[in-house]
Amino acid sequence: MRLDKFLADTGFGTRKEVKKLISQGLISINGEMAKKPNLHVKLQEDSVAYLGDEIHYQTYYYVMLNKPDGIISATEDREYETVIDWVALDYEHVDLFPVGRLDIDTTGLLLLTNNGQLAHQLLSPKKDVPKTYHALIEGIVTEDDVEAFSKGLDLGDFTSKPAELVIHEIDTEIGQTSIAVTIHEGKFHQVKRMFEAVGKTVEVLHRHSMGPLVLDETLELGAYRELKIDEKELLKPYGLIDE
Ligand code: URA
Repeated sequence: MRLDKFLADTGFGTRKEVKKLISQGLISINGEMAKKPNLHVKLQEDSVAYLGDEIHYQTYYYVMLNKPDGIISATEDREYETVIDWVALDYEHVDLFPVGRLDIDTTGLLLLTNNGQLAHQLLSPKKDVPKTYHALIEGIVTEDDVEAFSKGLDLGDFTSKPAELVIHEIDTEIGQTSIAVTIHEGKFHQVKRMFEAVGKTVEVLHRHSMGPLVLDETLELGAYRELKIDEKELLKPYGLIDE
């Protein structure tokens, strides 16, 4: 990889800016001052340093976001702030994208990455990656609903795959139920449509997990961090590459 690309990819600025750092003699390769932006860096072998501090090149990024209400799961949008805008200050130099979509008002677990293979596998219908949501439902959810979810619901244009619905708490006074539901596909507005099919409305929807990846509940809404080693291990069977 060219030295100027290496430096731009690791967040040292635009190609033009990093060329300046090189011409100022601030960059070294294996202890020797690097004089040209087109020098070749061998990622596995060479040690590149800025003012003597080694720079670690990271190819793939995996960021767990506790998505807040009001931003959209896209890379860019004219009207709304996107999840990528949300993390841009820290990841300006990386081409992140969200793994799947949450509605604008859905909160919770969203993985951002630049590893297309991982995203493809996590979203592939063939892989049947379960997604668990916690939700507040307007109306009293019943055992009949639990059974209907387990059989699959007719949503008009398709029948949902069997889903596991668990009733957590029923508030008969205000007519609300808190539930957890695990679905095995990810069609547009899927959970909302499933509840509509049994005559109820989703008031609050929060994604708790996607496959083996569980939201770190210590992350406040809107907070994000890179995956930890054990979380990365869990996603290796789905194509996560740690380099
Ligand atoms: N189901 C929905 O209805 N909305 C989401 O954001 C995710 C799943």
